[in-house]
Amino acid sequence: MDLRHTDTQPNTAEQQAVDALLGPPRSAWDGGERGADGHVATGGQDARSRRHLLLPALHAVQDRVGWISPAALGYICRRLTIPPAEAYGVASFYAMFSLEPQPPVVAHVCTDIGCMCRGGTELVADLQRQVGPAGEHPGNGTSIWLESPCLGLCEQAPAVLVTRAGEQPCERAIAPASADQVAAALAGGEVPEPVCVAPQAERGEPGLRLLRRVGRVDPESLDSYRGLGGYEALRRAFEIGPAGVLRELNDARLLGRGGAAFPTGRKWEAVAHNPVRPHHLVCNADESEPGTFKDRVVIEHDPFALIEALTIAGYVTGAEEARVYLRGEYPLARRRLTAAVERARERGLLGDDVMGRGLRFEIRVERGAGAYICGEETALFNSIEGYRGEPRNKPPFPVDAGLFGKPTTVNNVETLINVLDIVREGGAAFAAIGTEQSTGTRLFCLSGRVARPGLYEAPFGVTLRDLLEMAGGVADGGELRAVLLGGAAGGFVGPDRLDLELSFETTRAAGATLGSGVVMVFDHSVDIVAVLLRISAFFRDESCGQCVPCRVGTVRQQEALLRLASERPRGSVADELALLGEISQAMRDASICGLGQTASSALDSAIRELHVFEPEGVR
Ligand SMILES: Cc1cc2nc3c(=O)[nH]c(=O)nc-3n(C[C@H](O)[C@H](O)[C@H](O)COP(=O)(O)O)c2cc1C
Ligand code: SF4
Ligand code: FES
Repeated sequence: MDLRHTDTQPNTAEQQAVDALLGPPRSAWDGGERGADGHVATGGQDARSRRHLLLPALHAVQDRVGWISPAALGYICRRLTIPPAEAYGVASFYAMFSLEPQPPVVAHVCTDIGCMCRGGTELVADLQRQVGPAGEHPGNGTSIWLESPCLGLCEQAPAVLVTRAGEQPCERAIAPASADQVAAALAGGEVPEPVCVAPQAERGEPGLRLLRRVGRVDPESLDSYRGLGGYEALRRAFEIGPAGVLRELNDARLLGRGGAAFPTGRKWEAVAHNPVRPHHLVCNADESEPGTFKDRVVIEHDPFALIEALTIAGYVTGAEEARVYLRGEYPLARRRLTAAVERARERGLLGDDVMGRGLRFEIRVERGAGAYICGEETALFNSIEGYRGEPRNKPPFPVDAGLFGKPTTVNNVETLINVLDIVREGGAAFAAIGTEQSTGTRLFCLSGRVARPGLYEAPFGVTLRDLLEMAGGVADGGELRAVLLGGAAGGFVGPDRLDLELSFETTRAAGATLGSGVVMVFDHSVDIVAVLLRISAFFRDESCGQCVPCRVGTVRQQEALLRLASERPRGSVADELALLGEISQAMRDASICGLGQTASSALDSAIRELHVFEPEGVR
């Protein structure tokens, strides 16, 4: 194919950023000089097979220059033989890439629901006064602040992520953030490495399983991990073999923690027995559901646990390589996981002969680029392959045709680390914890108006009341108004549901969901309608736009909500609620993926459970 590229040349910084990743051009096919006759070139197949490097190349330019100019995009297209329109479509899909000139220093200020009720609204007002409106350059012209959806730091709200482009790019979180700190960062000041810990009360408690090492293990030391029982599970897996691990997983009745609650043993078995080769393994660490931060805490504090669990998964499912698709806004997790992978490799725990057992296994860390939809497993595959993160139709399911069209196991971080105890202690012991259908423990992300926000672990079946007590109850002695369970894609429950047992089956029966483990607490100081407006804006922004019910429905839903919130309904309030009900039904029934199917869940539940749009006397 003859691709039409623009002739504009990249500047030195842009070219260096791309060449540092891809190496210098090798032939006319990937942007090098044409031969004497201007037509002969070799290596086209090779150049086209590097499509999966599109996102890393875009990251490289964004990190170096702060935005992706048409010339830089054109150069990437020539290097990877990608049609410019397609590359533009990809670059413009992801929030972390800017196709407009942008200064090198950007402060992304979370304006999502968790931060909103823990000082985020005040932070934004202070910044507007001190620095100027979002999107406008303050005096120095080298920095800017922007509003951002949830940054996955909700327990430390209000949260800000500062990115600084340059030869040595830097990304740092400030949480909890003050306007003075953000203004100082925008003025060019250093942002120190953040300190992030699980709540003190939880650290090292005997009942902890998934979090037992968090706060105790040195995340940079393999010896520290081994000293706390690390790599016992992999050793045991080698003893009992792949069939033995599958037996234990099935006995454990482990269900996926990423949202869909699919049996992990069945998924692994399907890939392990699939004759098509190669097999792929993907760890879903995209974690962009507002209010969710569990996977980040685990990776930042116990990265070797994920590496060990992935090695077991690779051994059992026959994959020689795992890819961890890590949320782009998690710089500390990325640094720690990448360093841990290198350390494991140096010590023979990754590579061609893991533990001297003849197992070949590697781990790659893939960097997301700011798109909630990429948490959906098939959108995630497209993203790794270098495309827009648009979900695929299912079937075929990933176990048959996933990443690069091959059998693929995809699991959430929390699901994977459960495997360690299952292999070490046996599936029956694991199944004895929790409830009949929801075995084991669960990570709960407590945030919002709760006294001690943080990551908590409890056996399935714990009540909402117990969980709130663990976290010190409602902040500042406030009165509970509502709890959002499962995140923006979940639903609200009122104070009358405090005795709800938190398991997959009981929440489902109650019309709620555990989703990604979000438990966001609201008291009467929070304007629930403002929360709903933020959630509806989130879904409108994050819809990939591929299917009509979701693309149009999320916009219409937001418009109707705005009319209700401003007390200017079209017709009566009842007319608007009926319209919202219809939109919700259309999205649930006809959307391709879970995003559209759940985009109205929170709103529906707020209308049903909290009676938000009913006059006071009627509630
Ligand atoms: C819109 C959307 C976003 C999702 N985001 C995530 C996510 O961030 N992390 C995750 O593990 N699963 C997410 N999922 C679920 C995945 O598609 C998939 O079910 C999961 O990664 C499978 O792993 P598990 O079996 O271990 O739960 C999302 C699903 C949808 C529809
Ligand atoms: S439901 Fe929404 S997010 Fe999912 S494929 Fe359709 S448009 Fe995209
Ligand atoms: S970091 Fe702000 S809501 Fe999650």
